[in-house]
Amino acid sequence: KLLDTDVEKASKEGFDHFMLKEIFEQSESTQNVLNRFIKGDSFDLGESTFSAQEFKNFDSVYLSSCGTAFHAAQVAKYLIEDLIQIPVRDEIASELAYSNPFITEKTLLIVVSQSGETADTLNAMRLAKSKGATIFAVTNVVGSTIAREADRVLYCQAGPEISVASTKAYTSQLMNLYFFILDWAKKLGKLDNSLETQLLSDLKQIPNHIESLLDTVTGYRELAENFIHCESVYFIGRAVDYISAKEGSLKLKEISYIHSEALPAGELKHGTIALIEPGTQVIALATQRPLIEKIASNIVELSSRGAEILSVGFEHKGLKESSDRFIAIPETSDYVAPILSIIPLQTLAYYVAVLKGNDVDKPRNLAKSVTVE
Ligand code: G6P
Repeated sequence: KLLDTDVEKASKEGFDHFMLKEIFEQSESTQNVLNRFIKGDSFDLGESTFSAQEFKNFDSVYLSSCGTAFHAAQVAKYLIEDLIQIPVRDEIASELAYSNPFITEKTLLIVVSQSGETADTLNAMRLAKSKGATIFAVTNVVGSTIAREADRVLYCQAGPEISVASTKAYTSQLMNLYFFILDWAKKLGKLDNSLETQLLSDLKQIPNHIESLLDTVTGYRELAENFIHCESVYFIGRAVDYISAKEGSLKLKEISYIHSEALPAGELKHGTIALIEPGTQVIALATQRPLIEKIASNIVELSSRGAEILSVGFEHKGLKESSDRFIAIPETSDYVAPILSIIPLQTLAYYVAVLKGNDVDKPRNLAKSVTVE
């Protein structure tokens, strides 16, 4: 009879932890999404989406979820507002009921949940439903409560995620949300052919780009050394990079137990910069080309106060020169960059936790799925 530990070891397939295995599975899990939706030169979401008429009927959009899934929803907000040109309100699921939501029978509520069982997300969804809203869910678990109660569902197809800290579910959620938004834009006549071609080509390259990012991952262990004695780490970004900063910060907190905070880079000067002193570690996200110069000048401000900066972004002379360390994101469009920029942050958090000797897959006080309010 195999011991439980042997079974666990075998299912890790040679990786030290499920989290690392799942980080490495992201090239395959994102490819699964492509295989399902790409049809020739175009794409088709089948029954998982709404008709053009249904899309036309929505006059407001809400996003609500928890934890990592909320960050995936928040990334989607940028794309929805950009492509669909409709204002989107995002609210943490446990707060939705207390935020006087203006939800009507013309509201579309988008919820994202790896497990499909998170009580707070379910409550938010039931509240919206009671006001007549239509619910669209992105979840990884077929037949889960959220999947059953939503009006339409996209399944992530990430495969089982064992590590409490979510990695491959997040990038799959993003891939699914991007396709959903492309479909929505197309049905409303808001996606011209050249943008469709460009975005599909960017999405098709994601699995290869993830692989190339993961090729350099062993070097992250050394990078992680810089963080193990920190009391606090700050993540900064502008626009959608701020959301990636929040997700990177959450990953680090969850498994390394280091306090961290994510800030919109422009907000630093309104308070948090008071905490920067020689040796403070800052991670800067810079994947939105029109904003790279701005983030580079934030980096200069921080460096002049002694902060050490690791930047993660597209190749850019000013960015590289102002940062102490730099991780390059493969060339792609700004739109899809959040699917790539999170990979180094997940991996870095992983190595910090490993070097600190923490239980990476089962961090203290956290549960994979939280089914209580
Ligand atoms: C828990 C997990 C988080 C997760 C959140 C939402 O708190 O520890 O990693 O992001 O729940 O879970 P869900 O299953 O709804 O995506």
